[in-house]
Parts: sequence; C-alpha cells; structure tokens
Amino acid sequence: MKRIGVLTSGGDAPGMNAAIRAVVRTCIQNEMSVIGFKRGYNGLLMRSENEHEDFEILTTRSVSDKIHRGGTFLMTARCLDFKEERFQMQAVRNLKMLGVEGLVCIGGDGTYKGAEALNRLGIPTIGIPGTIDNDLAYTDYTIGFDTALNTACECINKVRETSDSHERVSLITVMGRNCGDIALHTAFACGAELFMVPEIPWSIEDIAERVKWGVMRGKRSMIIVFAEGALQSLTSDIPALCKEHPDLKDISVHHISSSQVAMIIEHLSGQETRATVLGYIQRGGSPSAQDRILASRLGARAAELLRDDQGGLAVGIRGNKIIEVPLSEVQNGTHAADTELSQLINVMAVMTKS
Ligand code: ADP
Ligand code: F6P
Repeated sequence: MKRIGVLTSGGDAPGMNAAIRAVVRTCIQNEMSVIGFKRGYNGLLMRSENEHEDFEILTTRSVSDKIHRGGTFLMTARCLDFKEERFQMQAVRNLKMLGVEGLVCIGGDGTYKGAEALNRLGIPTIGIPGTIDNDLAYTDYTIGFDTALNTACECINKVRETSDSHERVSLITVMGRNCGDIALHTAFACGAELFMVPEIPWSIEDIAERVKWGVMRGKRSMIIVFAEGALQSLTSDIPALCKEHPDLKDISVHHISSSQVAMIIEHLSGQETRATVLGYIQRGGSPSAQDRILASRLGARAAELLRDDQGGLAVGIRGNKIIEVPLSEVQNGTHAADTELSQLINVMAVMTKS
C-alpha cells in the first residue's frame, strides 16, 4: 500500500499519540503517506464544512513532540451512525476518493467492530488496542492501562493518608466498564485490603464482615477498591439490607451510587466509610514508559502489516511478543478473573483467616 489512514476512537487512552507517531514514522520510512482522520469514525464521514476538520495529511513533523502527551491529538469521539452500514459505505467511498488503501483504527472493542465492518466492505484495516480498560482478552495489555494504574495508585496513596488519619474506611471507585483489571491490579499495587470486580461474585455483608475483622486485627483504616462495573456481580438483597436505614430505605437496586455502597458498608460494619470516585483523572496524563513502548511497537507493526497488504487483523502483545489475530476473533472478551492475583491481594493485606 502507498497511502493509509489512521484514527483514534472510543474513550481516549494515554499512549494513543505514541501509537499514531509510530504508525506515521514507520509509514514514511516505507515511502507510504498517512492521512489522520479526526474524531473517530466521524472523520471518515467527512460531514464538516471545512475538510481540515475531518482529516489532515500527517508528516514526520506532525507527530513531533507527541510521544509523551496524553489524550489524542486526532481527537476521539463516539460516532453512533457508524454502526449503520449506509454510513460505513459512505466512509468506504470517501476513503477511495482520497486514495486511502488501508486504515489503522486505535481504540477498544467498539472501535474494532467498526474496523471489521470496513474490512468486510473492502478497506483492509488493522486494530490497535487503545483503552485504559484492558478489556480485550487476546492481548495481555492495552495501551493506556499501565498509565491509568499508575494514576489510580498515586491518587489512592493520597486518600490512604487522610483515611488513616481519620481512622476511616475508603471505598475508591475506579473505571474499567465491564472489566475488573484496573481495580484488581490497582488494589494489588496499592496494598488495598478489599476489592470488588465484575468477574467475581461478592456480597456487601461479606465486605462488611471483613471490615469488622480487619478492625479486630488492629487495622486503623482500610482501602476498598471498587470497579465501576462491580454491581453486576453483587449477590446481596439490597432492599432487605437497607429497609431499616432511614437514608437508604428507598434505594433503587438499579442505580446504587458509590456513596450508597459506602453507606451500606458503614451501616453493617459500624466503621465510618467514605466514597471517592476517581473518574476521568484516570484517562489523562502523560503515558508511562511502558505505554509509550507498547504503543510504539504496536503502531510500527500495524503500519508494516498494511505495507504488506494485510488487513482484518488486530495487533497485541502476549508474553512480550507482538502478535496479530483476526479482528473477527477478538471481540467481547475480557481476561478471565485472575484468581492468583486476587488471592495474593488477600494474603498481602492479611485479610485471610488462617
Ligand atoms: P471502544 O472502542 O473504546 O470500545 P465504543 O464502544 O464507544 O468504544 O466504540 C467506539 C466507536 O466505535 C463507536 O462510537 C462507533 O463509532 C464504533 N462502533 C462501535 N460499535 C460498532 C458496531 N457494531 N459497528 C460499527 N461501528 C461500531
Ligand atoms: O472505555 C474507557 C472508559 O473510560 C471506561 O472505563 C468508562 O466506563 C467509559 O470509558 C466512560 O466513557 P465516557 O467518556 O463516555 O464517559
């Protein structure tokens, strides 16, 4: 191929810029040109009045001073129209008009579905895993996960200090959508006492019992890491637990906030419990060295695959080896619950009854 496109889509992730840079510089070394499309799949639809709002030719200089920057300079968006075939076909027509022969799509599971559709319609595509969630099972790591972990750990260290001074329990909600990897790895790295993730069933009564048990063992404060998707594996009968509590008796099981989870833990354990939601801070910031290296390796491989006229693939890393797998095989798979890691968290926090 002589001309390809690149875009970032879905939630941004630190390291996306490093991946774009690697794609561009590998292509230029291979005498290929690159067009950067803006705002995810919106750029391919070219609906702006000014075409520079939709795409730009990327040169070596366009990607200078980018490897260490968080976010994505191509911008990202969720383009719901792109789920419809008529818009995908419009994108194919636009790409052909610009002489773009292949496309690199950097994003998560949803982005890969768009990439697969384009591939099916005749534009060879390569997916690069760019999401903090680490929710693509075919790859050990996604770009942005390591930075998000480091950010979450830094924040939790701070919460721990105030929590310890006040002898409180802190429930800290981290991102990850339906995947518990951010929560599990953050809990391990921060020495958290407890965690709740979507992959492992849990009950609020058990958490409260373990808080009481921790206090009996002399813990002054405790950190509980709560994955934002963890309510889907909650087994407790919440209305029954809350019916005597004046502020919780009207609780809706479908919309339980982190503060309400903290209130229930406090109610059952007798320990003052406060909630902190880390939120978008986890998606920002300069990418870690690990994420820059991973992004650069994956970006280079993606460009080489298109150079060699290969498409319909997602690149990833397994056991420190760069791999590629068919896009059709990578969707909808989070890593299986890491039982070894979850048991180690309990051992390290001295939360196992021996
Ligand atoms: P992520 O890529 O991080 O999983 P989303 O699930 O929000 O993020 O998906 C990002 C974008 O990918 C969507 O806004 C849409 O443009 C595109 N996309 C998602 N699902 C599909 C689909 N089934 N077909 C085509 N495009 C899709
Ligand atoms: O997929 C990345 C992610 O940050 C998830 O962890 C989170 O659930 C979601 O995106 C938030 O999306 P939005 O930017 O639409 O609020």
